Amino acid sequence: MRKAGRFNAQLLDYVRPFMQPGVTTGEVDRLVHAYTVKHGHTPAPLNYMGFPKSCCTSVNEVVCHGIPGDRELKEGDIVNLDVTSIVEGWYGDQSETFLIGDVSDDARRVAQCALDCLYIGIWATRPGGPVYDIGAAILKEAESRGLSVVREYVGHGIGNEFHKRPNIPHAPTAQSRRDKLMPGMCFTIEPMINLGGRETVLDEKDGWTVTTKDGSLSAQFEHTILMTEKGPEILTLTESGPQEGHLFKPREE
Ligand code: MF3
Ligand code: CO
Ligand code: CO
Repeated sequence: MRKAGRFNAQLLDYVRPFMQPGVTTGEVDRLVHAYTVKHGHTPAPLNYMGFPKSCCTSVNEVVCHGIPGDRELKEGDIVNLDVTSIVEGWYGDQSETFLIGDVSDDARRVAQCALDCLYIGIWATRPGGPVYDIGAAILKEAESRGLSVVREYVGHGIGNEFHKRPNIPHAPTAQSRRDKLMPGMCFTIEPMINLGGRETVLDEKDGWTVTTKDGSLSAQFEHTILMTEKGPEILTLTESGPQEGHLFKPREE
């Protein structure tokens, strides 16, 4: 799992410089696919439950599971790139929201909250502790900033399968009070934060694209985590991506 997480993070570092105005999400998908295959690994999204591409690209009001295509990224967009690799049968899964050029204060605010909530969720965990602690910490933080937390899509156990038990909700639930984070478990935390209401809509035509019901902006960050005897270990740390505590700043005039 450490090797899968490390490779997946290197993949994201490889793609990062291409996330610029003018690139299409389909071109990003081709970069993800080519780099993964060249290193002898497999992009997990491709053909997963019928998903047609090798990564998810979710622009602005798209919450998650956006399908790469002809859409060109433009200055002011925020786009989540979610990449998952299968390395010798083991899965690494992570995502990052990219700010394309100069973005609005609202866009920066929702991206900042999603990044901060990811780390707040990670550090809320302890060996043997309840999954509940993650959602409780994230919901409190997001709501204190006047933002909302998506409920329909959740983090998950991960290992030799993409999505395993337990679910890792980003808000408190009854089940998450019962599920415990035992040493040796791997799971993801991947909060989706909306500028407006928390409700989402699934595109019935493509069966995948999830948007905010009110059309407001949404942002997400994701890591794969290993719970150890000593506490959480992040398996998908990037070299050049935003680190814990990173502040998205307005561009200098
Ligand atoms: N990577 C997503 C997650 O974090 C799942 C994408 S499933 C796909 O769990 F089929 F849309 F790729
Ligand atoms: Co995931
Ligand atoms: Co993911």
